[in-house]
Amino acid sequence: MEQLTLLSQIAQDTKIGLSSNPKYLLSKYFYDDKGSSIFQDIMHMPEYYLTDCEYEIFATHKQQLADSFFNGSKSFDLIELGAGDGLKTKVLLQFLNNNATTIKYIPIDISKKANNELVKSIKLEIPGLNVDAKTGDYFSEIKKLNGQASKRKIIFFLGSNIGNFADSEINQFLEQLSLLCNKGDKVLIGFDLKKSPAVIMSAYNDPHGHTRNFNLNLLTRLNRELNANFNLDNFEHHTDYHPINGEVKSFLVSSVEQTIDIETLGQSFHFEKFEAIFMERSRKFDIQTIENLAKRFSFRIDHNFSDKRNYFVDSLWEKA
Ligand code: AVJ
Repeated sequence: MEQLTLLSQIAQDTKIGLSSNPKYLLSKYFYDDKGSSIFQDIMHMPEYYLTDCEYEIFATHKQQLADSFFNGSKSFDLIELGAGDGLKTKVLLQFLNNNATTIKYIPIDISKKANNELVKSIKLEIPGLNVDAKTGDYFSEIKKLNGQASKRKIIFFLGSNIGNFADSEINQFLEQLSLLCNKGDKVLIGFDLKKSPAVIMSAYNDPHGHTRNFNLNLLTRLNRELNANFNLDNFEHHTDYHPINGEVKSFLVSSVEQTIDIETLGQSFHFEKFEAIFMERSRKFDIQTIENLAKRFSFRIDHNFSDKRNYFVDSLWEKA
């Protein structure tokens, strides 16, 4: 049947992803209200070391971080891409706010609910801080910010969110970020590092089932928003880590041969028994790769901040 109505972005992306071979869905759609709350559960579990590492980095190095942001002036815009609950950033915001800075905090997140809660908690915990939250995906929000360059900018992209990108997307993203920055602007990017595969696997294949639920929740979202009929019992969650390219990849594998109808698309999708949907990439990096990326996109590495275990790096770059 011909589709006459305009399709939403998630509908178009789902149509393309499930028509591809191999099939895929986009992990940015994990973060509906339920998904954002499952991601909170993931961050709170002991196996998910990333959040703890970055929290430790912020708590330990806040003075040095603040000093490198100041760079002679205590006035700047602090833009955070994919802010989520802002747990780590608030440590630093609190500290900056106590140090006579004039800053505006601009958190950007795809989840409206996460954004509202963040603003509410900041109003309570850091009264007096100037906050201007924006809801949307990074690429489009970056483009919008592009026009209004005046103040010095510090841009945060934490939590190894960059690990979700394929190589071509990393390049696109850093190119846009570089264009957005004037000389002297800084970016702080969180990179999860290569480490023991056992440690990585326990974070992404957790015994509590949170990661599994996080993936399956996207099927629930498609059932609700696109009138699909995925039966969650017919999909098995699988994760693997490739220690050479550093990619954790997660999949939902169809445990039976089945056909899924998606009413909004007016289309059905056939699954062979054991056919997989590629759901998410969470890439792990090494320092050499980080240095090469900074250089290629005209940044100078100011400092690599890492945790005691050397699991994670927040790399501070200055636009040359
Ligand atoms: C929010 C993209 C950084 O890849 O580690 C956590 C999302 N996926 N567990 C990550 C996620 C499975 C997370 N990021």
